[in-house]
Amino acid sequence: MFITFEGIDGCGKTTQIRYLTDFLEQNGFEVVATREPGGTDFSEQLRDILLHSKHKISPISELFLFNAARAHLIETLILPAIKNNKVVISDRFYDSTLAYQGYGRGLNKEDIEKCNEIIKQMGAIPNVTFLLDISTEDALQRREGEKKDRIESSDINFFEKVRNGYLKIAEQEPNRVKVINASQEKHITSEKIKKIIQEIMKI
Ligand code: TYD
Repeated sequence: MFITFEGIDGCGKTTQIRYLTDFLEQNGFEVVATREPGGTDFSEQLRDILLHSKHKISPISELFLFNAARAHLIETLILPAIKNNKVVISDRFYDSTLAYQGYGRGLNKEDIEKCNEIIKQMGAIPNVTFLLDISTEDALQRREGEKKDRIESSDINFFEKVRNGYLKIAEQEPNRVKVINASQEKHITSEKIKKIIQEIMKI
């Protein structure tokens, strides 16, 4: 089982992943929680470059670096864990690339789909993806006072485009991508996520 969480920065993925991990573990599942970019030593090094480099990184460079980090994570962590019957939960996956680099940065979406196709051929396709949807204003408010990385420093228009991109992705793949209103109280959001997982995993 492979579960991914998506949404704009500040949507509350980290908290929801923690709640879902606890719930699944209480039900006897072994859970491997990971994140993108990152999750392996090599991919965490790429994360550092992507989020904290002082260099100007073009959207195309960004696209390939995210995919390099992803490929390594899939090969060394995601596929082996799935093979061992573990539940893998990833904080972001390829929908982030379409939403951020495609809809946000304006890269050609077909090119991004081509990269995503290569990734899919590796065999890691999420069974279910939770899109935690929140307004850009609410998200910005939640992140107030936090130190912003290279991508988080983008302006509100960028996040507006990313959010709308995510909603389009969900429209195109309603069976996989579940849109969850993430502006509600965190336990209410968590209950909705658990209910969907209970149905899918027959818990
Ligand atoms: P995230 O881990 O959610 O940030 P934080 O540690 O602050 O919670 O995500 C890292 C950033 O990388 C986020 O701004 C989105 C961006 N990103 C992309 O632009 N494209 C991608 O393919 C991925 C995976 C992330």
